[in-house]
Amino acid sequence: MMDGGDGMRWDDLRARAEAVRSRHIFELMDDERAGQFSVAAGDLLFDYSKTNLDEQTRALLVSFCDAMDLPAKREAMFSGAPINETEGRAVLHTALRNLRAAPVTVDGRDVMPDVLGTLERMEGFAASVRDGSFTGAGGAITDVVNIGIGGSDLGPAMAARALSPYHDGPRCHFVSNVDGADIADTLRRLDPATTLVIVASKTFTTIETMTNAETARQWMSRQITDPAAQFAALSSAAERTEAFGISPDRVFGFADWVGGRYSMWGPIGLSLMIAIGPKAFRAFLSGAEAMDIHFRAAEPLENMPVMLALTGLWHNQGCGYATRAVLPYEQRLARLPAYLQQLEMESNGKGVSMDGASLDIQSGPIVWGEPGTNGQHAFYQLIHQGTHVVPCEFMIGAQGHEPELAHQHTLLAANCLAQSEALLKGRSFGEAMKLMEGKFEGAELERQARHRVFPGNRPSTTLAYPKLTPFVLGQIVALYEHRVFVEGVLLGINSFDQWGVELGKELAKAVEPILAGDEPADGKDGSTRALVAYLRGNGIG
Ligand code: F6P
Repeated sequence: MMDGGDGMRWDDLRARAEAVRSRHIFELMDDERAGQFSVAAGDLLFDYSKTNLDEQTRALLVSFCDAMDLPAKREAMFSGAPINETEGRAVLHTALRNLRAAPVTVDGRDVMPDVLGTLERMEGFAASVRDGSFTGAGGAITDVVNIGIGGSDLGPAMAARALSPYHDGPRCHFVSNVDGADIADTLRRLDPATTLVIVASKTFTTIETMTNAETARQWMSRQITDPAAQFAALSSAAERTEAFGISPDRVFGFADWVGGRYSMWGPIGLSLMIAIGPKAFRAFLSGAEAMDIHFRAAEPLENMPVMLALTGLWHNQGCGYATRAVLPYEQRLARLPAYLQQLEMESNGKGVSMDGASLDIQSGPIVWGEPGTNGQHAFYQLIHQGTHVVPCEFMIGAQGHEPELAHQHTLLAANCLAQSEALLKGRSFGEAMKLMEGKFEGAELERQARHRVFPGNRPSTTLAYPKLTPFVLGQIVALYEHRVFVEGVLLGINSFDQWGVELGKELAKAVEPILAGDEPADGKDGSTRALVAYLRGNGIG
């Protein structure tokens, strides 16, 4: 149970959804609506006018913010209070991009000198890798391999791909999966003598990362006498990095108030910094900082993260739509849906509220997606004509990075706008009949026309930005982080722990010796025993 009156609040929202269910979103469209149901922040525009939100519902949602003390909770986060209550920690990823260095106090101490000191050490190291003063056994570093998983992979991997036009450093590779195929396929193409391996793990215990790090060390040691000299570590666990043999001057630590999925702004972003350079990395941080400043000060209706969150809650809690699709019309954001899956689902996929009682509403939604236009030729069929309603979150930049291919970018943008228009308007039976006239007649004409009807009335939002620069990407990622925070506060859950990932990890440790044949499968359930028998019977390994 959440605090006072929550059940009723969500009941009110569901009642609102019920009351407007038969209303077509298109009926709401007039010349003013796009201006009234959109919000600008920095150089981003978030348009939520193609949803069934009206002023009354929006006001109801905005009232939830005060009822759940959002302003005070937001302030508590920014000022370093231990809001991650199940782990007793502050939540201060915002400090990592607090370039103005306004003091942020945890346990009576300003954390900013340490944060900025680490940033400068990272910059010094990145510069030395980029200018060739840090070398491998075979000379200047040509390739950097980031070994990490979850938050120690998805952020830098997503951003490195998003910002590829800004790469002017060594090539960056990302290895995450414990499946040996991942590291084997990556290392096969590289020269150990000119490769830098970055082991990214907050805890330095994650089995996938430590296994891959050991594999990389073995690979290097076949050609290099001192492989550890070509390793760096991004971790809070100084003793473990030392035990692995990595010199402290190549270890970049961060405090426990940086959650894994919120960590790319600090040391976990080192591979990105090496790829795009310290200056562009600072621009990325400033974009996020600009969004932080906006989020902290703007009133709900002018507050982009708040309105993005309220739109999400409307669809998920009010209308009961279980999923949302993230559809960037930007090929370089191909990893954004995966990044947001962790950010949103690991943060808000919780079944217990802050006070320990079972959540009596749905937890955060299922997030999925692909870049457009590719998705159009794959799953958009269901989005347009299937029986599930999937709120779509489109993203589009005004410009690409290929001026010589501007006509392709215009075509890309046209597709983005056309998809949201098609979802909004649909195509009526009458229009479908007209389309098929002359090709069929009578009952067959009707039958054929029915297959070509689009119900429309399907909600979507569009996030528009000028161009995917480091500064813009920083704004976008921080926008989504704060959206998760707002949704978590309004749902009454802790967005900053992740106990749900633990059980599988523990069980994997117990199953491994069974698969290896070192321990009997007795005590396992029948299905697991049968699968063990199958895999062993087919030569596991
Ligand atoms: O298993 C989940 C998780 O703890 C994530 O939250 C985290 O991002 C990831 O594992 C990696 O953890 P680490 O950086 O400690 O290796």
